[in-house]
Amino acid sequence: MTENIHMANTLSDVPAKPIIFSGIQPSGNLTIGNYLGAIKSWIRFLEEYNCIYCIVDMHAITVRQVPADLRRHTYELLALYLAAGLDPQKCTLFVQSHVPAHAQLAWILDCYTMFGELSRMTQFKDKSAKNADNINAGLFTYPSLMAADILLYQADLVPVGEDQRQHIELSRDIANRFNGIYGDVFKVPDGFIPKVEAGAKIMSLSDPEKKMSKSDTGFGSVRILDSRDEILKKFKRAVTDCDSVVQYKEGKAGINNLMNIYACFTGKDHAVIEREFDGRGYGDFKLAVGEVVADALAPLQEEFRRLMADKGYLESVMRQGAETASHLAAKTLRKVYKKVGFAGV
Ligand code: TRP
Repeated sequence: MTENIHMANTLSDVPAKPIIFSGIQPSGNLTIGNYLGAIKSWIRFLEEYNCIYCIVDMHAITVRQVPADLRRHTYELLALYLAAGLDPQKCTLFVQSHVPAHAQLAWILDCYTMFGELSRMTQFKDKSAKNADNINAGLFTYPSLMAADILLYQADLVPVGEDQRQHIELSRDIANRFNGIYGDVFKVPDGFIPKVEAGAKIMSLSDPEKKMSKSDTGFGSVRILDSRDEILKKFKRAVTDCDSVVQYKEGKAGINNLMNIYACFTGKDHAVIEREFDGRGYGDFKLAVGEVVADALAPLQEEFRRLMADKGYLESVMRQGAETASHLAAKTLRKVYKKVGFAGV
């Protein structure tokens, strides 16, 4: 008896994997929140999706950067991607400025994005308040560059943090608007915001009502590259509450956050953690969280240092990624040029 399965006859019969696109700014000082919420969560997409992960240096210059730092942070972010397990044989890793199509499409999309829409972006309002002396046009049009990043690759899914929800919605609006005028040019992407337990929102250790932030230089933010000592010290100081029971409960933002971090690094759920620390105080728990984090980061940091000493390898990964990305991006850009009426395409 022959098995009743559908066989693909040619390569084009094999359903293409859906496409994932995401990016991080090389602004340095990545925290365990960035690691858990983004890089680590990206790994699980590698088998089932065509993943394209970008280092968005063009977005980074919307606020003033020290050139040497930006360059170093770009190498560092790539080394982190690799050290965390993003295998360049299984996904495309590249630097945004290496693929000119991003800037080219961004300009066109600027012409299909409304002043009113950009004015309503909360990130623009927040960043302009923080950089009152440098409210530049790039900061304003940041979301149409982000839309270009995504739409160039016909991405199906865009994993991001909660703070990027509005930008994803605007990308969808721009895509729909363009498609409405010219026919189906862009895939309209879905955003994907990982659940809290998967690390989407890790809060500050010094103020557990606030998101752990790259720019916090105090003990609130634990950095991926912090030493074991620094990590243990920061967790020891973590703000909790005046209760003493390790329990996931409303009103215990500090403990809830520590439990989330512990859960992310150990894979244990809240009930298991509560049992493990039953009858033990906060001091024990904080030490345990610190140790788990330091243990988990140690091999990653070692691999990071090894990679940072091998610029040649990092550059070869960048080059190869940019080549793959350019090829994909050129297809979409050509279509767009034709649609809007640019001659000789
Ligand atoms: N704006 C995103 C952030 O700050 C980074 C980013 C740029 C991005 N382009 C993107 C994320 C495209 C997802 C898809 O987090």
